[in-house]
Amino acid sequence: MKAAILHQPGTPLTIEDVTLGDPGPFEIRLRTVASGLCHSDLSIIDGHMPWRFPALMGHEAAGVVEAVGASVTRIKVGDHVVTSPSAYCGACEDCLGGHMSLCETPGNRRAKGAPPKIALGSATVFPFFELGGFAEAMLIHERNCVAIRKDMPLDRAALLGCAVTTGFGAVARSAKVQLGETVAVIGCGGVGLATINAAAVAGASRIIAIDRVAAKLDAAIQMGATDIVDASTTDAVEAVRELTRGGVHHAIEAIGLKATIEQAFAMLRRGGTATILGIPPQGVKLELAAMDFFGEKKIQGSLMGSNQFPVDIPRYVDLYLQGRMKLDELISRRISLTDINTAFDEMRGATVIARSVIEFPA
Ligand SMILES: NC(=O)c1ccc[n+]([C@@H]2O[C@H](COP(=O)([O-])OP(=O)(O)OC[C@H]3O[C@@H](n4cnc5c(N)ncnc54)[C@H](O)[C@@H]3O)[C@@H](O)[C@H]2O)c1
Ligand SMILES: [Zn+2]
Ligand SMILES: [Zn+2]
Repeated sequence: MKAAILHQPGTPLTIEDVTLGDPGPFEIRLRTVASGLCHSDLSIIDGHMPWRFPALMGHEAAGVVEAVGASVTRIKVGDHVVTSPSAYCGACEDCLGGHMSLCETPGNRRAKGAPPKIALGSATVFPFFELGGFAEAMLIHERNCVAIRKDMPLDRAALLGCAVTTGFGAVARSAKVQLGETVAVIGCGGVGLATINAAAVAGASRIIAIDRVAAKLDAAIQMGATDIVDASTTDAVEAVRELTRGGVHHAIEAIGLKATIEQAFAMLRRGGTATILGIPPQGVKLELAAMDFFGEKKIQGSLMGSNQFPVDIPRYVDLYLQGRMKLDELISRRISLTDINTAFDEMRGATVIARSVIEFPA
């Protein structure tokens, strides 16, 4: 099957023929139908985060199950599934305590010495998050995916795998935005736009979208933003303080830069919470005004929106099919696997508004 392989950071992906193994006891093989491009893939491609090579990126996918291992119980052949990076063991303190996205013992990898899931000639290929969505088929653990209603279009379902789970989870699970609260979202890419939509669904009274690309701010309004701030010409912190007369209840950062994470904290009102989604390059350190803690300002991380994806994703499917979640607007480009390097160039240059989604021929 064809897959977009990353041999080294800083080099283009190359489309190559790779071999997918047979499903192990708890694994499933799916035909990939659609796969979104996320900035986290780009961070590995550009060498901002470590990984093993050759790598197969892609972690926001949906497809149809073609084969299941002997011990698989949750998924059957023919199921439509959405993949998730948040594999979980279901038995550790985090899983049992309701924080399954923090699970550190998901048990979704093959044992050392076992044949590789994906091979390029004689070399083992390392799939991102044990997923590898930039390929015509995927071999994944059953606890890396969830089955969904078959009337859900799979191109839009793919976005639930990362951008939407992260954005909606950030609002509903990490920040727990309350009806009527004010929210600022810094960065209006795929994740930020989903976050804006989630804040609108949650009933935030003001949703201030911040980006430095005008077309992204237009998209933010479509997703439910009530106010926009162009960070290329305006000081975002001052603008938010002015719009809200003092600061927001929630600032959610969806870029991953030191400066914008610090801005998120600085634009809070007393008692407000900054929730950080963006992943900065390794080693970045922050500088915050320590006196702000005296005003009970808080800052927290949010890993994949603190999701409980087997519960959350089927709910999101219902919200979309009821017309209450915007996914059509999140797909800016439909591309084929061979367009992948151009699409990542567009992400680097912020010329694609929301997501590029690879569609695989049936
Ligand atoms: N926490 C998690 O679990 C999680 C999950 C998914 C993605 N992420 C991270 O979230 C971030 C966003 O991902 P994405 O796929 O939406 O990326 P993206 O590239 O689609 O969007 C980034 C946006 O930030 C804007 N931007 C860049 N610099 C800016 C600045 N100085 N001021 C204002 N706007 C600026 C860009 O114009 C763009 O709209 C990335 O760091 C990604 O790795 C984290
Ligand atoms: Zn992602
Ligand atoms: Zn666990």
